Amino acid sequence: DLDSAMSALDQQFWVSTAKLKDIVARFREELKEGLEKEGGNIPMNLSWVLGLSSGREKGRFLAIDLGGTNLRVCLKDGSGHGPNGKHTLTQTKYTLPATLKTSSADHLWTFITDALATFLSDHNLSDKYTTAPSHRLPLGFTFSYPATQHRIDHGILQRWTKGFDIAGVEGEDVTAQFRSHLAAKNLPVDLVCLVNDTVGAMIASAYNDPQTIAGAIFGTGCNAAYMQSLVREPASVPKLELREDEWEALDREGKQTGQETVKMAINCEYGAFDNALRVLPRTEFDDAVDRESPRPGEQAFEKMSAGLYLGEIFRLVLVGLVRRELLFTQNSKSMSKDGGELGKEAEERGLEKLKKPYTIDTGFLSAIEDDESPQFRQTRDLFNKILHLSPSDPEIEFCRRLAELIAVRGARLCACGIAAICLNEGIQQGHVAADGSVANKHPKFKRRWAEALGEILDWGDGNDGPIRLTSAEDGSGVGVAVIAAMTLERAQRGV
Ligand code: BG6
Ligand code: GLC
Repeated sequence: DLDSAMSALDQQFWVSTAKLKDIVARFREELKEGLEKEGGNIPMNLSWVLGLSSGREKGRFLAIDLGGTNLRVCLKDGSGHGPNGKHTLTQTKYTLPATLKTSSADHLWTFITDALATFLSDHNLSDKYTTAPSHRLPLGFTFSYPATQHRIDHGILQRWTKGFDIAGVEGEDVTAQFRSHLAAKNLPVDLVCLVNDTVGAMIASAYNDPQTIAGAIFGTGCNAAYMQSLVREPASVPKLELREDEWEALDREGKQTGQETVKMAINCEYGAFDNALRVLPRTEFDDAVDRESPRPGEQAFEKMSAGLYLGEIFRLVLVGLVRRELLFTQNSKSMSKDGGELGKEAEERGLEKLKKPYTIDTGFLSAIEDDESPQFRQTRDLFNKILHLSPSDPEIEFCRRLAELIAVRGARLCACGIAAICLNEGIQQGHVAADGSVANKHPKFKRRWAEALGEILDWGDGNDGPIRLTSAEDGSGVGVAVIAAMTLERAQRGV
């Protein structure tokens, strides 16, 4: 019955403190391996962002922010640090059409350059700049996918993640593709840097908060960046092979920014943690999510913890129980029991919605968990509206508990990545600047994450712990604009 099904799920989805610690131990090894050589499972991508912002960067900068759900175009103007600074941010958000995610390189860059052209003309910027090299508006590009960078102004896409599967971009320099579309449209902009969203969030936060130790995204995907000290002997980043003059330039840069040792932001790309499945507590539902994704075998950690997948895991559990005739029985009398397609008659009774992959998003799960309306009317309305189902009272109860199990597991797993970074780097306190739909829209996420971090680091209650999540909501736009400013200043210093 439903009760015993719930007990079994409870066991499958609960991650104990001991298990969290095992995961962190392996995580620490994979982070180190990523710094040792190119091509490790966690790539530990070098970002060429050196040092945090001084908070004094000024000027007018454009930012393009390509996330997993939205494209944002931003304009940052002015100068300064937080409350005393005088910068303004103007932005327009475009939802990425679902079809774009599986289209071609040409479609992607046309979509982005069209949005940029509209933004420039809407804000009367098209006529103020020209395509002549010194008259262009500097542009920073937040690209929320793994890229190999040998310099800050280029990046080769390692692989698409978060369900993207756009042909003709993997293995290519995305900045070269973008620049050729900018040129074809005669847009008066100069693409000066490419950064990951985690790096953008970290730098945006550091602009206002000197206690920032990392930038983390808990959204469609999950990932983090931190500042890595570049020590030569013994090498802190053995895979970073530089010529003597390049080291000297870095040392000069460190002195310039007042640091003893120069630091570089590392985009971990830890969504790929444990692709070899040595330690993650995978369930049959996680296996199914992986099998049906465009890139099976990749992003194992992300597929268990990030927003894109939580709703899908929930849906797959429900589908399994419907097949066993344990759930929504009034809708599903004729469902096939052999795990095949839902029966025709069942479809007519309203289960066809549940059959469709990715119909349930993270917003659905948080709405169920947060429902405090009488008789959970909000949840009933949601089931009705999204899935065309009318659950019974015990079914509602079951779904609430299931939503909780899946979200708690995700939050607890997410704490492992930051714990591993802090343990490896000896970081004992500070702020982790968080952005993304799960961190911002799931009210219980931050508390659950903090509790798990407290368990891992033996603090007791992590909510009062010295390492805390802070908000960097919509930070990547400011972050990449600041990085563009830092890049131009650095270029003037010849680094
Ligand atoms: C946005 C940032 O606020 O959050 C993006 O500007 C980032 O750079 C995004 O990729 C992550 O959240 P989600 O939920 O859209 O994946
Ligand atoms: C995915 C991407 C990564 C990004 C994260 C959060 O893991 O590969 O680059 O930072 O999602 O958006």
